[in-house]
Amino acid sequence: MSKKVFIRTFGCQMNARDSEVVAGILMDAGYRLSDSADKADVVLFNSCSVRKHAEDRLFGNIAELKGLKKKRPRLVIALMGCTAQNYKHNIFKKAPLVDIVCGPGNEFDLPVLIENFLKTRSRIVAVNKVDKKRPEVSTGYRNAGKTALVSIGEGCNNFCSYCIVPYVRGKERYRDVGDIVREVRDLAACGYKEIMLLGQNVNSYGRTPNSELQTPNFVHLLEALNGIDGIERIKFMTSHPKDASKELFGAIASLEKVCKQLHLPVQSGSDRILKLMSRGYTSKRYLKLVEDYKKMVPGGSITTDILVGFPTETERDFKATYDIMKKIRFNSAFIFKYSPRPPAKAAKMTDDVTRDVKEERHRKLLELQRKISGEGIR
Ligand code: SAH
Ligand code: SF4
Ligand code: F3S
Repeated sequence: MSKKVFIRTFGCQMNARDSEVVAGILMDAGYRLSDSADKADVVLFNSCSVRKHAEDRLFGNIAELKGLKKKRPRLVIALMGCTAQNYKHNIFKKAPLVDIVCGPGNEFDLPVLIENFLKTRSRIVAVNKVDKKRPEVSTGYRNAGKTALVSIGEGCNNFCSYCIVPYVRGKERYRDVGDIVREVRDLAACGYKEIMLLGQNVNSYGRTPNSELQTPNFVHLLEALNGIDGIERIKFMTSHPKDASKELFGAIASLEKVCKQLHLPVQSGSDRILKLMSRGYTSKRYLKLVEDYKKMVPGGSITTDILVGFPTETERDFKATYDIMKKIRFNSAFIFKYSPRPPAKAAKMTDDVTRDVKEERHRKLLELQRKISGEGIR
């Protein structure tokens, strides 16, 4: 009888997409999907390390399987995704129940890894492909929902000082336009009308390893996808303000299938903090971008991410963030409290904004955003 796998996904949309791919690969290898750990032979966690809180939740969830593993010692517990890559062998100290550790670049090998584990029953750590381009495998499995997630590439070269993603997702590498177009055509043939393109920084699509932007770039990709019959709505995330351009806004305005929305994380309104974050833009440049966007894409929506409590953030820095939010009036904003994420560079700085102050700033921004969203956008 075929084995059953239960996949539990944490983190961002990239992880959601990776879980679909892995589910597809495992099903092709003869597994069936289970909807709970109780009934599964393999429990697979797809993990996120972006904030400490995300990791703590994951470790809590793994620990909860202790009773089940005692009852059924042959239950396999596997960890894939960013936390697997982050801790490698050291995960066993944090989560002793784990049998298999598999980084994001090694996920295509999971059927083999599980098989090897079942044969030998000795722990496996596979984290050596973090910078490798993934194979183009079409598995056909998608989660229910009207939007199909489409990855346009992997990794990030930006190294924002607070962020762990470049370390756990590796260097930027992109899929070919032809491969993406083929996937989206297949999606259209299956009846999907809406796609969401995923990349840590979609505007660097086409960038070569030495960071130069080449053709085709992201706008060319949007143009190619806009021409696919059956697809009606194209969304994408995330755009980095240092690489967003009028060319992009022009494409959003003119390509009829591209949704008039932009997710453009500002992180902070303080130039001093933006510099410490290595974001590569100033508040002035950000404001100008938003002005261009609003002019070129009338009625277009704009959303953002904000990080409060970055090391050394003063009341004055915080006020600059508050003011920029008030000025721009985002349609919505994700607001996060900073947590140190070694080996990200900022983790070497003292995490000197107290928990209470972080909470307070977080609450103030949530309140402001609630008010703005409630009032609607002018
Ligand atoms: N590539 C995207 C998303 C990265 S992670 C981008 O550049 O915007 C999503 C969000 O998590 C970030 O925008 C940031 O606001 C938040 N984040 C990243 N590292 C964090 C940390 N150490 N503590 C708290 N929030 C963090
Ligand atoms: Fe992290 Fe910055 Fe890359 Fe986004 S652009 S994933 S915040 S390093
Ligand atoms: Fe996403 Fe979390 Fe990894 S935000 S890229 S799953 S660290």
